[in-house]
Amino acid sequence: MKDVLSAIQPTGDMHFGNYFGAVKNWVELQKKYECVFGVVDYHAITMPINYQKLRNNTWELIFNLIAVGIKPENIFIQSLVPEHTELAWILSCFTSYGQLTRMTQFKDKSAKSKEETKDSFVSAGLFNYPVLQAADILIYRPKFVPVGKDQEQHLELTRNIAQRFNNSVSKEYFRLPEALFTETPKIRSTADPAKKMSKSAGEKHYISVFAEENRIRKQVRSAVTDTGKNTEGQMSMGVENLFELLKATGKLKEYQSLINDYNSGNLKYVELKDAVADALIEISNDFKEKKTEILSNKKDIKNQIKQSSWEIRKIAQETIKNVKELTGLINVKF
Ligand code: TRP
Repeated sequence: MKDVLSAIQPTGDMHFGNYFGAVKNWVELQKKYECVFGVVDYHAITMPINYQKLRNNTWELIFNLIAVGIKPENIFIQSLVPEHTELAWILSCFTSYGQLTRMTQFKDKSAKSKEETKDSFVSAGLFNYPVLQAADILIYRPKFVPVGKDQEQHLELTRNIAQRFNNSVSKEYFRLPEALFTETPKIRSTADPAKKMSKSAGEKHYISVFAEENRIRKQVRSAVTDTGKNTEGQMSMGVENLFELLKATGKLKEYQSLINDYNSGNLKYVELKDAVADALIEISNDFKEKKTEILSNKKDIKNQIKQSSWEIRKIAQETIKNVKELTGLINVKF
């Protein structure tokens, strides 16, 4: 059993929205709990993607995670632990079809998939995605699952599945996992502060954690500050976002002094932007240095992750053995 499980889809690049909103919290959680973090490539194939890029994206994300402070021994690659899909099948038989049809992420993603591909094809994998997610979680029987609010419905479904399973086999086998909604900064796109920072909106909408200094500065310098929509006297979303970023970097003295300037009407946006850019660059340089080290050692790191996946897989195998026992499936050790 583990205390904490979370997972992330392999999309290669990592931006400051991912970092401040989720991954930084994972780094902290490692200090207090036994953690496992999955890079979930089985989930990535639920949407039409570039299959040639997936494997590279998976490794790239892993290098990035390690560079920002996730311990390699806590990382596994989902497809190296095939018990996830085995458990997903079993759990699908304890999942309410009706409840799956009400998953908002499925509705959003299927609409998006149709729009992007101009094709009405939506995979059954996308529909079953939340069952695989439930398997990802339950297979390690964790106490906590740190996720964003957008995953609340999936967590609720996971608990329902666990409950139905437990009731059906008359045993409190699965621990009901709790979502851990740590307050994390919600970073918005600097190009369009009405949107959250994300890769799907396009290149100018996210600042990569590993971007070149000049690019970071340029992106911050060109951040939208006045959206024109706000009523007099209210901080615009763009300015608020810059302050949020500055606070997230931990530069609290600068933050406070610039807030004071804002309140007294003396804030020059360029000063706020420079403070944000300096702080992001400082963090980024530190991570880039670690990443260079990692990249010079790629082979060893890959082996280490295969090994950690194997270690973590032992827990998954134990769970599958128990689940087969409880559900009357044949258990044979070949
Ligand atoms: N669905 C999650 C997301 O979109 C990713 C995910 C897959 C996940 N399996 C998980 C998150 C298990 C937490 C636990 O972000």
